[in-house]
Amino acid sequence: MAPQEEPPRDKWPPAPEHYPRRVTQEHRNKSGFETRAIHAGYEPDPTTGAVIPPIFATSTYKQDGVGGLRGGYEYSRSANPTRTALEGNLAALEEGERGFAFASGLAAEDTLLRALTRPGDHLVFPDDAYGGTFRLVDKVAGPWGLEHTPAQVADVDAMRAAIRPGTTKLVWVETPTNPLLNIGDIEALAGVAHDAGALLVVDNTFASPYLQQPLVLGADVVVHSTTKYCGGHSDVVGGALVVRDLEIAEKIGFHQNAMGAVAGPFDAWLTLRGLRTLALRMDRHSDNAERVVEFLTGHPQVSHVYYPGLPEHPGHEVAARQMRRFGGIVSFRVIGGEEQALAVCDRSEVFTLGESLGGVESLIEHPGRMTHASVAGTELEVPPDLIRLSVGIETADDLVADLESSLGG
Ligand SMILES: Cc1ncc(COP(=O)(O)O)c(C=O)c1O
Repeated sequence: MAPQEEPPRDKWPPAPEHYPRRVTQEHRNKSGFETRAIHAGYEPDPTTGAVIPPIFATSTYKQDGVGGLRGGYEYSRSANPTRTALEGNLAALEEGERGFAFASGLAAEDTLLRALTRPGDHLVFPDDAYGGTFRLVDKVAGPWGLEHTPAQVADVDAMRAAIRPGTTKLVWVETPTNPLLNIGDIEALAGVAHDAGALLVVDNTFASPYLQQPLVLGADVVVHSTTKYCGGHSDVVGGALVVRDLEIAEKIGFHQNAMGAVAGPFDAWLTLRGLRTLALRMDRHSDNAERVVEFLTGHPQVSHVYYPGLPEHPGHEVAARQMRRFGGIVSFRVIGGEEQALAVCDRSEVFTLGESLGGVESLIEHPGRMTHASVAGTELEVPPDLIRLSVGIETADDLVADLESSLGG
């Protein structure tokens, strides 16, 4: 059998007809977040009325004569209707113009870096970024000639000072950061980036579009690991980029197709299903995290609690301004050092010991040995007595009781 071919393409194909603007713009202007989460990106199927988008498990599409595409679909790396629905939904939730769905958060980040930077360019980067993002920037993009300078996202002046005028193309932040929950002032950082002719990229994974909408605050690109709160059920790995500017969208769209790290239709469908309940879940995650923080604060075995909802958190005021609530991630340090941190992780039962975050179930992890092992020995190294919780949506009393028993006397 001849290998499957796709038509040559040097330009990103126009998005399928029903995708651009109509759904995102209409729903953005008229509807609340929850309504957009449930309806944006997809109209009930015209032939069957199916209210949920089908999983279009197809790699190619029949053409009505050469080039006669139905709805712009020709090959599923370029576009697939299930992915289109997800991309439209994400764009509407982030109040962007275009969304792009990828096979993972890191695939989204890699595509973004290659779309918007070239060898010799520079980016400013959080000094406590997610370890995998750091590894991508330092160990993969670095050897290809992309330089970076770590800076504290909470310190606007430090971020400004890290810029190399003319060479810095991206100011990249996470807020809240993973795992120390530092807060970057998105509006101020957008000003800093734009003054230098750079773009502001915000990894919005921890907050989710329900709690924070960086594009509205002036950011140029939103990054998600949709594996986390967007998917929300720990059953799919995915990533996304959302932008307002159509020129940036065109570059990303071209690279999405040219590099090919797209979300498959099954994964897109699961993520879309997760997004429909994002608002409800985030409210419960935040409620439960507040209960957990209340318990941990002042506990004799706990030396420090990191949560932007705490009034004494240095980023509290900024977080209160730019976030709807403070989210489900809580980090804390224990009195007994690394040994005690590892023991707490081992003893917990309702909190499952595992990597990742943002699912309905509560997770506990030791960042130094697990998610952030890749930054050991670098300026991004995390404290050895640090524990990160992803507070799920179980009964709050059970979560507190579990922590009480795993922390011990
Ligand atoms: C803040 C943040 N950004 C990006 C990623 C990478 O996403 P993925 O694991 O889906 O590739 C993660 C993963 O944990 C993350 O926590």
